[in-house]
Amino acid sequence: MFFKRTVLNVAYLTCVTAVSLKFNDPLIAQEGLGWPHSLQVAAGHEALMKLAVTLDNQGSCVITTPGGVIFDIESPPSDRFSRWDDTCSLKVKQVREDDTGRWRLTATGDNTTVMGWTEVHVIEDIPPTVAPPIILQDGKSTVKIDLSTEDNSYCLVAKPFSDSALVPGHCSVTLDRTTRAVQGTWDVLLGVPGKIAEVPMRREVVVEAERLDVGYIHDNNKLHLYCNILHSEKNITFCRFQRTSKLFGYHVVDGLSDGKRSYYGKGFLRKECGITIQNPIADDYGSWRCTLGVNMWEDKVVKEQPPMQALISVAPKFRVPKCTNTSIKTPEKLFICVPRNIQMRRKWLELSRRNCDEIMPSSNIFFCEDHFNLQQDMANYCEYKMGFSQRIIMVDKVLPSKFSCQSDCNKTISDAGTSCKAFVKRKRKRLIHECENTLQQPIITKNWPSAIIEPTLLKYLPNDTVEPIINNNQAVDEQYILGL
Ligand SMILES: *[C@@H]1O[C@H](CO)[C@@H](O)[C@H](O)[C@H]1NC(C)=O
Ligand SMILES: *[C@@H]1O[C@H](CO)[C@@H](O)[C@H](O)[C@H]1NC(C)=O
Ligand SMILES: *[C@@H]1O[C@H](CO)[C@@H](O)[C@H](O)[C@H]1NC(C)=O
Ligand SMILES: *[C@@H]1O[C@H](CO)[C@@H](O)[C@H](O)[C@H]1NC(C)=O
Ligand SMILES: *[C@@H]1O[C@H](CO)[C@@H](O)[C@H](O)[C@H]1NC(C)=O
Repeated sequence: MFFKRTVLNVAYLTCVTAVSLKFNDPLIAQEGLGWPHSLQVAAGHEALMKLAVTLDNQGSCVITTPGGVIFDIESPPSDRFSRWDDTCSLKVKQVREDDTGRWRLTATGDNTTVMGWTEVHVIEDIPPTVAPPIILQDGKSTVKIDLSTEDNSYCLVAKPFSDSALVPGHCSVTLDRTTRAVQGTWDVLLGVPGKIAEVPMRREVVVEAERLDVGYIHDNNKLHLYCNILHSEKNITFCRFQRTSKLFGYHVVDGLSDGKRSYYGKGFLRKECGITIQNPIADDYGSWRCTLGVNMWEDKVVKEQPPMQALISVAPKFRVPKCTNTSIKTPEKLFICVPRNIQMRRKWLELSRRNCDEIMPSSNIFFCEDHFNLQQDMANYCEYKMGFSQRIIMVDKVLPSKFSCQSDCNKTISDAGTSCKAFVKRKRKRLIHECENTLQQPIITKNWPSAIIEPTLLKYLPNDTVEPIINNNQAVDEQYILGL
């Protein structure tokens, strides 16, 4: 009885006289005679399919492609197709997108014809993309990390200093607690559909620790101090600043000001705490302490946490009395911005006998062109002088070289100005001529990408040629112009 029912269910039998078919396998009844029932293949791979039954005295084996082409396996129309098994079977090499669809295999035995099919899905072979680093917050518990967006069957994950773990299904890992130990490169092998070879993937995992970002900003007649919480779940409950030498501090609140002191930052909600001091006096410079009250969720209740504290050492605004009114009196000069890179900055300032520590790392400081041999030191000297370039690009690792004034004369600013002007006037014609001659050749500097030093352009040099747009809107603080 069972046998008979099976046969009846197999609708693929076009001729049910085949009582000799020996397949009382319920799977065949369910899935049909084609094997595999459905097949995912990455483009370029091979697809294998066959009939799940073998006929006695099998005669022909005829294939019908999804596109409707019919051929006998013994005489395929292309060498992409061949038999791969003794039974009625087909191997498709170099699978292409248009191979998607239903492939029919029809075997004919003595008195019997059997047909089965396989559904082929061709998956585009996308090269692995470079995944961005995974950023985790230190100290969080039960963190689920998704390692791949691909539809994979399984993956094998190797974390630094840890055994590999085989993850069935979607490739994600749950960490009990994030610590610095998981930071590094995670090697992942993905078992993806349509491919026999596992797909390797690397993910960078970065664990960010909670910390305070502190500092200060001189802003014309204002001084801003800030203490912002980074990489934290904690919320600010209060914010306090105190000059360490004073007995009292300031209770800083979003949106509150007493005329002289006010909140600075983007709000407590953004975990920013800061104070702005209007018209700071000498007393306002020096060492400050900021204290932040914080709370966080602990077991579904918000709990007050120990306050976070930091010290800020505020240097007074740097003053070079010799340099006042520089930009007014010598407008034709170029000013070259001192690099932000701390080592380069130190070197430049040491050469000009300035103490680097007195100057905020983020402040814009400029050297007058007098301290350079611009023709050598500027990478785009000619383009700039000709007006083709509006940025000053210095040669990589250039150092100011001319400091004769400091040692052997007490030149006044206006002296320096006129000499510079005279120099320019004298040389301008010749410079332009030289530039015209050398412009054809590219000016090559070493390590080009790092050669760019953002300039602040006060005034373009040859006044009577092309006047460029001053591309830096930031006003130059005269007090930061060094070294005349
Ligand atoms: C096929 O049919 C022929 C005549 O119709 C018969 O003689 C033969 O036995 C059959 N073969 C099988 C395998 O049933
Ligand atoms: C912190 O603030 C956010 C936004 O208002 C809120 O969703 C979160 O629950 C707060 N956490 C605590 C500990 O108060
Ligand atoms: C700077 O220049 C202005 C305008 O020329 C002048 O009033 C002022 O006194 C100058 N300051 C110094 C310190 O020379
Ligand atoms: C430069 O001026 C300072 C103070 O005005 C003076 O002490 C120093 O001797 C002068 N240097 C030279 C080389 O004249
Ligand atoms: C330079 O250009 C400015 C603005 O165009 C002009 O006011 C000034 O007189 C010019 N100076 C010289 C020396 O040509």
